[in-house]
Amino acid sequence: MIEAKHITKTIITGKQTIPILKNISFSLQKGSITAVVGKSGCGKSTLLSILAGIDPPVSGEVILNGTNFYRQSPAAQERFRSEQIGILFQNYHLIPELTCEENVRMPLAFSRHKERASKVGDMLEQVGLAAKKSLFPRQMSGGEQQRTAILRAIVNEPTLLFADEPTGALDSGTGSQVIHFLINYAHCCNVTVLLVTHDMDIANQCDRTIFMKDGHIAMPVN
Ligand SMILES: Nc1ncnc2c1ncn2[C@@H]1O[C@H](COP(=O)(O)OP(=O)(O)OP(=O)(O)O)[C@@H](O)[C@H]1O
Ligand SMILES: [Mg+2]
Repeated sequence: MIEAKHITKTIITGKQTIPILKNISFSLQKGSITAVVGKSGCGKSTLLSILAGIDPPVSGEVILNGTNFYRQSPAAQERFRSEQIGILFQNYHLIPELTCEENVRMPLAFSRHKERASKVGDMLEQVGLAAKKSLFPRQMSGGEQQRTAILRAIVNEPTLLFADEPTGALDSGTGSQVIHFLINYAHCCNVTVLLVTHDMDIANQCDRTIFMKDGHIAMPVN
């Protein structure tokens, strides 16, 4: 479960303090998938980074699975991130020197659950990457790289998954496969998923949509 309570964020440039997020509050149920939509620059990625435990807000609270995330010590935050949070980016952020399979396994190097490596073969099979597992990112298509990034984000069995424009660099057919995977993953594995998208077709397939405008929520959350 994800709770945002009165979150604000400002950026200081020279003498100016620019508000980026203005008093954002909502809560997302466990096992649901929610889309955040809004114009470029309205604060979607900033909000996602705050909720994913990457960037603290200026004020307000982020409660993740009942834990007040930024009130924890840095070490506890790091442990929480590695055990509970998966993140997916528009441009995949795969490590160029590692193969597909090595990228997927990478988070397990920092995990207490090394045994999860034994399911990587099945995971690659399920998303059609078994034949590609020894390729490097530069040798894979955008869709293959994004599927690799999804497996890497979920290999450590997070309970919270954040995705910033996960289909932004994909054609609509490939993008739609990625979205179906994420919807199914939220519902079947009881994982709370928050994704940012520009695409209303994608938002409409999610359980909920949060509309943002100029740093605040533009209309009541359904
Ligand atoms: N480090 C920074 N310094 C100055 N301004 C910033 C910084 N980070 C974000 N901003 C500003 O904050 C606003 C929100 O940025 P954000 O990346 O969250 O928007 P977004 O909704 O994700 O946009 P897009 O759809 O284009 O990805 C923008 O106006 C951006 O210029
Ligand atoms: Mg963005």
